[in-house]
Amino acid sequence: MASLSRLSRTVCLSLKPLLILFLLVFLLTLVSQARHLHDPKLTTTKAFTGTHAFIPPTSSDSRSPCPALNTLANHGYLPHDGKNITPSQLVHALKSAYGATTPLAWVLTYGGYFLLRNPPPTSLTLAPSSVSHFAHIANSLPTLPQLLAPLDLADLALHNHIEHDASLAHSNAAPHSLYAPTSTNHTLLEQLFAFATLNDAFTLSSIARARVLREYQTNNSIDAFHAEIARGEVALVLGIFGSALTDVGNLDEGIDMHLFRAWFGENRLPERWTPKHAQTLRGTVKISKAIRALMEKIGKDGVNEAPVSQALQMHTLQRERPPPIIASPLENVSASSNRSAYDGALLFPSVKEMEMDVSGLFSLVKETEMDVGGSGWLDLSEE
Ligand code: HEM
Repeated sequence: MASLSRLSRTVCLSLKPLLILFLLVFLLTLVSQARHLHDPKLTTTKAFTGTHAFIPPTSSDSRSPCPALNTLANHGYLPHDGKNITPSQLVHALKSAYGATTPLAWVLTYGGYFLLRNPPPTSLTLAPSSVSHFAHIANSLPTLPQLLAPLDLADLALHNHIEHDASLAHSNAAPHSLYAPTSTNHTLLEQLFAFATLNDAFTLSSIARARVLREYQTNNSIDAFHAEIARGEVALVLGIFGSALTDVGNLDEGIDMHLFRAWFGENRLPERWTPKHAQTLRGTVKISKAIRALMEKIGKDGVNEAPVSQALQMHTLQRERPPPIIASPLENVSASSNRSAYDGALLFPSVKEMEMDVSGLFSLVKETEMDVGGSGWLDLSEE
């Protein structure tokens, strides 16, 4: 017994230096990670030269409905063909191109791979309380190799895994279709861009209003889980591209439209753009909560109650008077205290952008209400 305890003490003593070494390496790694976030390389223009120059995709390249990942492939942070992407490639790309912290990059990547290989419970048709529901989940859990297997960007369009209805710039998946379209719907894209403020920024308020409108236009077909994902997507955008100095940042200042257009429309990073700060998981969650709160407020006060009459009213006012003197019924939902009242009228940007006549607008809004996936005003099946 005594010799056994002597032996274990000897083993412990001989392992001690190893343990200390391991601890030191671990601490050094942490420090270098932390320093990396303030690395001057984050503020260089390395994205636009050499290996990270923008190269548009060819028809054989794989692309997703996610503008962030397509951009990474277009700039060579991910394989340009968008195929066989491993989780570690994605983690690295999210960190170096967008300044995501390691926890954020991990959650996005491994969460994404997990959902892709394992549909969220909301997509299952069985009742959540039934034994078969849980048996189904248990049986359908992917093995680790399955979970971590490389993906092609196009795989991400698998409907109702990560992909969801009511996207800002993509059509809904066609009925009974396994995959949603990966190409951008340019009518929706223009509708999205029209939510910019008068000083050409895309703010928290723009994002919240755009999301409310899309949920309204698609008859709220998006479930609660995917609505959370959708808010997370735009929270990431606001966090990464906003001028945040803290976690939540100055959300009112918003994103420069030049950047937003290039990124969302062409999946391209504009010249000289680089991440100005590290984007954290905690900061993203905070922004997402702020978007949710504002969406609830807008939904309660505005869109859901009288969208048609409101749109008509705004349209009429807009035609009759110059923009600055229009009192928007949505002014009270503005996130920014110094924004113009006219900004609220952009809730229905199509009214501002398309200059339709009032009678036309009435029937078009009605069409949208009835069938957003059909052949109405926003023909969502048209790519
Ligand atoms: C910095 C990280 C990211 C940002 C800023 C971002 C941003 C976005 C945005 C704004 C959309 C909405 C597109 C639309 O509504 O039309 C979107 C969609 C999507 N993203 Fe990402 N994303 C990021 C990372 C990821 C990751 C890591 C994955 C998966 C591994 C992913 C998968 C998707 C998918 C499948 C969609 C389609 C959802 C839909 O139906 O609209 N994204 N993303």
